Amino acid sequence: MNSRIEQGPFTLNTELINGMREVLKTADFNEKGILDHLSQEDSVRVNQKEFPRLLRLTAGGSPLETLIRLLVMNVPVDRPSVQRAVAPMTISSWVDTGLLRFEGEDSVHSNFRMIPSGPLRVAFDPSHKDRNQKIKPDHVHGPGPSSIRLIHATLRHDVGQVLDMGTGCGIQGLLCASHSDRVISTDVNPRALNIAAFNADLNGIGNIEFRMGSLFEPVQEEGFDLMVVNPPFAISPENRLVFRDGGMDGDGFVERIIREAPRFLNRGGFCQLNAQWAHFRGIPWEERFQNWFQSSGCDAWILKLATESPTSYATNWLNEAEKLDGDTYIKRWEDWTKYYQEKNIESVSTGFISMRKTERAEPWYRFDEDGEYLDEETNKFIHLGFHLRDFSSTASEEALLGTRFSLSDFVRLKQHSRPASDGWGVEKLVLTMTRGIHYTGNVDGRLIGLLGRCNSKRPLAELIEELADALGVEPERITESVLGIIRKLMERGYIIPDHLLAYSPKKA
Ligand SMILES: C[S@@+](CC[C@H](N)C(=O)[O-])C[C@H]1O[C@@H](n2cnc3c(N)ncnc32)[C@H](O)[C@@H]1O
Repeated sequence: MNSRIEQGPFTLNTELINGMREVLKTADFNEKGILDHLSQEDSVRVNQKEFPRLLRLTAGGSPLETLIRLLVMNVPVDRPSVQRAVAPMTISSWVDTGLLRFEGEDSVHSNFRMIPSGPLRVAFDPSHKDRNQKIKPDHVHGPGPSSIRLIHATLRHDVGQVLDMGTGCGIQGLLCASHSDRVISTDVNPRALNIAAFNADLNGIGNIEFRMGSLFEPVQEEGFDLMVVNPPFAISPENRLVFRDGGMDGDGFVERIIREAPRFLNRGGFCQLNAQWAHFRGIPWEERFQNWFQSSGCDAWILKLATESPTSYATNWLNEAEKLDGDTYIKRWEDWTKYYQEKNIESVSTGFISMRKTERAEPWYRFDEDGEYLDEETNKFIHLGFHLRDFSSTASEEALLGTRFSLSDFVRLKQHSRPASDGWGVEKLVLTMTRGIHYTGNVDGRLIGLLGRCNSKRPLAELIEELADALGVEPERITESVLGIIRKLMERGYIIPDHLLAYSPKKA
């Protein structure tokens, strides 16, 4: 049974909400039903520019069409159509829960947007883009790109207890509920907790407890096997929008999570979070993280995905989060960029962090800058990546030389060539991973043959001997440098040791 968070826009009447779930199910209000109906391929989010087409496609007045108009497009619908859509319930009962409202004599409007997200349906506040109006400080965002990134990267093995910190509309906790005994979802925003509790009831999920409070304060006595955090990570001088501004200086919110999480992690437990962090002139970014991780007792893996200048960072955040009129926008942009100047912030990075509580005396830290993009199978590759790094951090030279490797099914080699006097001259060779964590990087042409022969048949030592032979040198001359590259390629999953093949995702 979910704990009740009554303060907020929804009346958490389980009987009514169960009825709503049945109505939505009968109407086929799910990802496939909606995408099929709207002839869209991959997203049920609707763009305002698409409205004329979508209005035409939903003009028939069927329950699904009415629900799409009300909840997905968030436009008013006439009462008779809504009554047909919510039958056998009444419109008033939906109004009583807080989801809908009567508008004038004839029509009904939804107070929230609702979209199917994977197996779930989630309600959240319409954004400024949907409503063309300013959003409130306690606005509860729907699943945006950073939520989706966390969903894709979250490890999905069965666990005992999960912490979903900063639950917002509840999406992360709702998804973790299916592979854990119990989830504790927290937030400082009571509206968020109320909306998330509604969403839990709407999806018939009963193993989530909702607690109000900041950071780890509401879970002081708890231990977790998994923590998922999509923090209010924006770096700015503001503390206005609760979903965006953590209210701490610079990247202090992310630092607090990293420093404090280990105390609440069970042995082998993971903490996974989205992050943005500042780069300061003259300080290597890895050094700051190393300080934060010190004495954490955690292995830590940071995937740096993108880096922006302060000016484009301010432009992107200010336009993404809210609707600002011309003068206010200019003033805010000035304030934000001045803040970066005063703090000596020369750029800001976006990335993803996974930490694992370990018992080893020497935890490992891993900083990857060559991952460009995380897709929906990222979690499987993070799982594999922990095994690969564990092996790499303990394997001696002899152990590596005795290992048989296979090339990943998902690696691709691209050759860039330019015109040369006698044909094409190879400019560079680029290895990419096409699934999970989309790594990309140049590779030394002399190693390509060796990598191609990683087919699990012969140990690495033999492949190095062949390479040495081809280069006309003694194997000892090249072994150390080749092993350095092999470790790096292995950690990224381009090549996989035989004994870890079981963890490697397979081709569909
Ligand atoms: C970016 S939203 C993430 C929402 C949701 N977890 C997701 O993935 O879509 C950040 C959430 O953190 C909450 N929050 C802000 N400050 C917090 C704090 N000090 N402690 C806990 N949660 C906080 C906000 O209210 C908001 O719901």
